[in-house]
Amino acid sequence: MTEIRDADAGTLDLLRTRRSVPPMLLDGPGPSPEELDRWLGIAARVPDHGKLAPWRFLVIEGEGRERVGAIIERTFLADVPQADEKRRAQERQRLAHAPVVVGVVSRAGPHAKIPEWEQVLSAGAVCMNLVVAANAAGYATAWLTEWFAYDRRVLDALGLDPAERIAGFIHIGRAREVPSDRPRPDLAQIVTRV
Ligand SMILES: Cc1cc2nc3c(=O)[nH]c(=O)nc-3n(C[C@H](O)[C@H](O)[C@H](O)COP(=O)(O)O)c2cc1C
Repeated sequence: MTEIRDADAGTLDLLRTRRSVPPMLLDGPGPSPEELDRWLGIAARVPDHGKLAPWRFLVIEGEGRERVGAIIERTFLADVPQADEKRRAQERQRLAHAPVVVGVVSRAGPHAKIPEWEQVLSAGAVCMNLVVAANAAGYATAWLTEWFAYDRRVLDALGLDPAERIAGFIHIGRAREVPSDRPRPDLAQIVTRV
């Protein structure tokens, strides 16, 4: 048996106030390898119907960010060869701002018992657990996809199987500043008591 937990005001406060910080506002230093591994372990601790682990991680840090940036730029240029250097740099630097970016890969697929939809939802839970873990450790995050998360040429270069998809790139770093919050849904609009 795992222990019964007491109320944890710190966790509630984090969940109540956390917000994304755009990659442009994220800086180093990044987490140590041990710290990042701890977060990935937490991220993988999500509801997962059938214990399929229908997700995996791509860790993009250090020079890996430049390697992936070069893939993104090359793919962009194949479609927009006339792009100027400013625009090219924008694509090249997509993952260059935060010290670490974790790609959460969904491996959802047809299964005799477990609906694919539930496997996809589990990958979303992985993303959110990673976001919460990193924020609880004092970092800030942005959960983004952008066009290249849907581009087969980029996915091939990143080693994704044809059936795999990107659930999100989680950019993780130290916030230089935290933008003001955005409006949040009005509970009256989204809650129905039946
Ligand atoms: C799966 C997923 C993909 C997203 N992709 C993008 C994106 O490509 N570009 C973007 O500006 N926002 C994207 N967002 C939204 C950002 O995460 C956004 O900043 C977020 O909704 C802010 O909410 P928060 O402050 O509660 O984290 C995405 C969100 C999700 C859940």
